[in-house]
Amino acid sequence: MVLCSVHFATRRVQVNLVAINNSQYAHAMGRLLVLYTQVDQLIMEACAERIASAPSQEAKMGLAKQVGDECRHVAIQKQWMSIFGVDTGPVIGEAALRDLHEHFRGLGWIDFLSDLYLVVEALGSQAVEELVPLADPGTRESLRVPLQDELDHVAFGMAQLTTALARIPADQRRLVVDKMPDRIAHFVSLLSALNLPVEDWFEKVGADYQQLCGVLERRQQELLGALAA
Ligand SMILES: [Fe+2]
Ligand SMILES: [Fe+2]
Repeated sequence: MVLCSVHFATRRVQVNLVAINNSQYAHAMGRLLVLYTQVDQLIMEACAERIASAPSQEAKMGLAKQVGDECRHVAIQKQWMSIFGVDTGPVIGEAALRDLHEHFRGLGWIDFLSDLYLVVEALGSQAVEELVPLADPGTRESLRVPLQDELDHVAFGMAQLTTALARIPADQRRLVVDKMPDRIAHFVSLLSALNLPVEDWFEKVGADYQQLCGVLERRQQELLGALAA
């Protein structure tokens, strides 16, 4: 195995040239990195728009912190992609991004929290976590700080969701929680309608896509169980 060393983000990392030189791997990982970066940018903008109407000072502060975090993630990913030398062209088109922004703008606070934190943050970052053991060291290093922050974002979203649910009458709360699997399925179907070859990209970087779907399903059950409790 051929290895060399490079400096990236002030940490010395080993770059596996066998993996980097595998063009199929590099293309697929590059596409997944672009997707992650575009989603981070989308979240950054959606959270920024929500600050003014957030229901509490705590929520406003959390959203504002997240805007800064996502901005940093976008910068880290872009820096790594330029070193990695992959195609940085968008995978989500402008019209689809506009539609996603419209989707988030149209949601009440609880639905906003469900779609953004249960699906995009929790399930999305879980999918990225699954890439880490398969990734070349440079990509792994580029994901280190973002994935640490994503844990905070999920915790913030879950705490806000719990608070928001506690403020509504118990019978209404039960209904909202009971409908959450449908809500998640609906938003996932909107994302699926983007028709991105995500399954192919995951397989090309060495992931077992069916196994990944199982991990995400279990994570979803865990989150919903926590909210129901
Ligand atoms: Fe992020
Ligand atoms: Fe995040």
